[in-house]
Amino acid sequence: MTHEVRIDPLDRSTTCPAGQSILESCLRDDIWLPHSCTQGTCGSCKVKVLSGEVDHRESSEYTLTPEERESGIALGCQATPMSGLVLEPVEQVDPDDGVPRHPLRDHTGTVVVLDDIARDVRRLVVELDEPMAFNPGQYTEIRVPGTDVARQYSMANPPSETSRLEFHVRRTPGGIATDGWMFASLAVGERVEFKGPLGDFGMPVAQEEPAILIAGGTGLAPLKSIVRHALAHDLAPELHLYHGGRSRQDLYDVEFFEDLAREHPNFGYRPCLSEEDWEGATGLVTDVVLADFQSCRGLSAYLCGPPGMVEAGVKALKRRRMAPRKIHREEFLDAS
Ligand code: FAD
Ligand code: FES
Repeated sequence: MTHEVRIDPLDRSTTCPAGQSILESCLRDDIWLPHSCTQGTCGSCKVKVLSGEVDHRESSEYTLTPEERESGIALGCQATPMSGLVLEPVEQVDPDDGVPRHPLRDHTGTVVVLDDIARDVRRLVVELDEPMAFNPGQYTEIRVPGTDVARQYSMANPPSETSRLEFHVRRTPGGIATDGWMFASLAVGERVEFKGPLGDFGMPVAQEEPAILIAGGTGLAPLKSIVRHALAHDLAPELHLYHGGRSRQDLYDVEFFEDLAREHPNFGYRPCLSEEDWEGATGLVTDVVLADFQSCRGLSAYLCGPPGMVEAGVKALKRRRMAPRKIHREEFLDAS
């Protein structure tokens, strides 16, 4: 059974199939709604239900409080319609913000590269059967074969490469997608299924101010896509990339970024190690940023990685007077 869902302020409607979330139905119909994690943990996809009934499904009380439910708020990425709906996004959508939007689609492809590039990190490259348009910073949801599990992985390649997607995957001990599949049985030549693009992290349009980009571990993936796209299209006057790891074994793509820094005088690259003394920057990546910038007023930032690092980075940037609306973040939250 399908239900008609109308997004009031956008004057657009979608027909939502049974079992599909409101967000997924909208994105497949090329109706852009704010969202980030698509797994019910970030809360950026909240919608106000103006009329009709929803099933909140897996929405947790942490992301959607009982009071919010009472007042008609729902998580777009979790809720499914139980009747025809009229709703509006809680976060405002500006259809004229100049950001290109790409409809969500199912994709298939073949694994062409699977390399160990750092401690517990693999580079996975997938050749797509059909190209996928996306913005730098977005991600896909890859299905784990033989299960009903899907996990999110960010593209590390720039959007100019629509047919060959690069991913950086960190092994999670006991993790279904990583330990149980990508680091166990997955091999070059294997077919993979996923959907994308998803997410609203990134720098798809030009900005006037210099940007600081802070990555923890495989949080480097979307920042690599952003850096390559921004340098190719002159999107920011200066880019300062910081990559944090514990020891040298955690760093990867060092030569790639060093070469990029030599080619582009407006791009700086600082790998930082928190548990090893070496010739480069030593300490937590956010402490290195604090030491390098006495003021972040008038700058913007893009942070990606484990939630603890992202939180610490946001605090550090605010201490240095960066405007909160200039801080863009993506947290690699897991499903637990
Ligand atoms: P899971 O099976 O999900 O396990 C994760 C952890 O939870 C483990 O410690 C496990 O032991 C524990 N756990 C599992 N189930 C339970 C339970 N029921 N109760 C308690 N604990 C439990 N990662 C990358 O490496 N690269 C990326 O580019 C990337 N991009 C991302 C983009 C987004 C927007 C998001 C949200 C996440 C991204 N991630 C990325 C993280 C990735 O999606 C997975 O969460 C991660 O790879 C772990 O998946 P898994 O299936 O191996 O682990
Ligand atoms: Fe829905 Fe994060 S909670 S996108």
